[in-house]
Amino acid sequence: MTEAEFVRAYEIVGADFTNAGRASTSIKETLKNMGLASALIRRVAIAAYEAEMNTVMYARRATMTLHVTPADVTIDVQDEGPGIPDIQLAMQEGYSTATAAMREMGFGAGMGLPNIRRNADQFAITSEVNRGTALVMTVHVG
Ligand SMILES: Nc1ncnc2c1ncn2[C@@H]1O[C@H](COP(=O)(O)OP(=O)(O)OP(=O)(O)O)[C@@H](O)[C@H]1O
Ligand SMILES: [Mg+2]
Repeated sequence: MTEAEFVRAYEIVGADFTNAGRASTSIKETLKNMGLASALIRRVAIAAYEAEMNTVMYARRATMTLHVTPADVTIDVQDEGPGIPDIQLAMQEGYSTATAAMREMGFGAGMGLPNIRRNADQFAITSEVNRGTALVMTVHVG
């Protein structure tokens, strides 16, 4: 446990498009209130939003946890869901299993995971089929 660590957890419900985006919006507001640099907040907010939407679209439920220390901002997302059978494939730009309904809502470009990786200084994703997916991303402060 780091002494100066701030932690806040958010519960995300699969297929709940009404509340989708609330966790990442709250994370953005929290970081703004802490006075962090806007460029850093922007990177975290993009990554958090993409990770949140993936759990809304593909998982049954998820817990997204924000960790802030003087050194870095970390977002940890653990979901229960179908998992990702081929992570290397899922990481490719343009790869998507989004349904027609999701595409009508504007999702399914297959850019979420590549965007998370691009915006994070550290990024890790692991998954177990029929169990769920775990994603951790860190952006360094300063
Ligand atoms: N949490 C998850 N659980 C199960 N499958 C996932 C999860 N996150 C991503 N995937 C799989 O990886 C694919 C690629 O994800 P990515 O976020 O890059 O694109 P997308 O969600 O399909 O489209 P976009 O993010 O551009 O709206 C998804 O289509 C889905 O098959
Ligand atoms: Mg996505």
